[in-house]
Amino acid sequence: MNSPAVSAEATSAAPLPRALPAWTYSHPEMTRLEIERILKPSWQIVCHMSAIPRPGDYATLDLGPESVVAVRGSQGQIQAFHNVCRHRAARILDGTGKCPGTITCPYHGWTYRLTGELIGMPVRESFPGLERSQFSLRPVRAELFLGFVFVALSGHPPPLAQVWGDFAQDFTPYRFEEMVPLDATYHEDWDVDWKVAMDNYLESYHVPIGHPGLFRMFTPDFEDQAFRPGIGRSFGWMRDNPSSKWSERLYQRFVGEVAQELPESHRRRWGFYSLLPNLGIDVFPDQMDFFQVLPRGPGKCTIRGGTFGLPADGRVLRAVRYLNARINRSVQREDEFLCRRVQRGLASSSYEPGPLSSLESCVLEFHDLLRARIPEARLANAPSHFA
Ligand code: FES
Ligand SMILES: [Fe+2]
Repeated sequence: MNSPAVSAEATSAAPLPRALPAWTYSHPEMTRLEIERILKPSWQIVCHMSAIPRPGDYATLDLGPESVVAVRGSQGQIQAFHNVCRHRAARILDGTGKCPGTITCPYHGWTYRLTGELIGMPVRESFPGLERSQFSLRPVRAELFLGFVFVALSGHPPPLAQVWGDFAQDFTPYRFEEMVPLDATYHEDWDVDWKVAMDNYLESYHVPIGHPGLFRMFTPDFEDQAFRPGIGRSFGWMRDNPSSKWSERLYQRFVGEVAQELPESHRRRWGFYSLLPNLGIDVFPDQMDFFQVLPRGPGKCTIRGGTFGLPADGRVLRAVRYLNARINRSVQREDEFLCRRVQRGLASSSYEPGPLSSLESCVLEFHDLLRARIPEARLANAPSHFA
């Protein structure tokens, strides 16, 4: 029960910020506008550059109705294009793979250079007067940063070096650029709105209750701080007390051994970084991963991600990475379980947006971004039409 003093203070304080209204988490027009106004004009990871090491290697990224392909050219450069044939729109490439020197559409066989120019098509004479130079694959703005290929589908987001600023120095000791994929890119479909999954990642307030394993192993700092606009960070500090679970205990015991090149403070911590609107980067002493939360329609999303490590080997490192993957699989299942419960609760007529704590400041920043780009998100109920 509150003491009278606390109650008096609470009534004089400014009203607490509120989460987004429930309708925004399942509305088709919201999803469409979120893709157009928030996700397309932001930096999205396609792949790590080591995933496409040789000329002709490619990786694709699907985002809503869009698809992008990043291709390694014959000079070693990486370029990105809309993955859409200039003839009659066929999707050209899927997943990841290798083009044999040229990119050929699977429909009628239009063929493009790795640099996007249209080279030719079957029955060329059936297109009299066609100017090949007018039908190159459409380029997409791409940047290499921290060893990853990022693309921005629209708008003018500032260069990534400017977005991250000095903050990127946090990653320097880990040498992301020298890492290689430890596994194929994964895609997990969750029956929750992409914003529910992102809200969940943007705070550690849920860790002690929602992730008992993480809490056995780590003291979370809880402070998901927005150090720069759009960028959040929190740390889990490894406890000295061994966990009661064997996998966690072994990880605690051996992880320091495989991270001797890292500064001592980094050997016993897990770092969780976010870049609004939809990117998470987890940094462990033994490996790192990224994931993106991509809308798959209202109330549905796909988690796309991958795990990367320095190309070292050794029995202890293999064991530590195995344990890390095992622990993080549980965390992922717990997050999905929690997010599904939120999505179900949001459908209840009884729910009104609840207050956000100061430990949820990154969630607030995310919601404020949504409110700024889609002003209807401020309304308590869905409007009959959007501006
Ligand atoms: S749609 Fe690609 S060649 Fe026809
Ligand atoms: Fe979580």
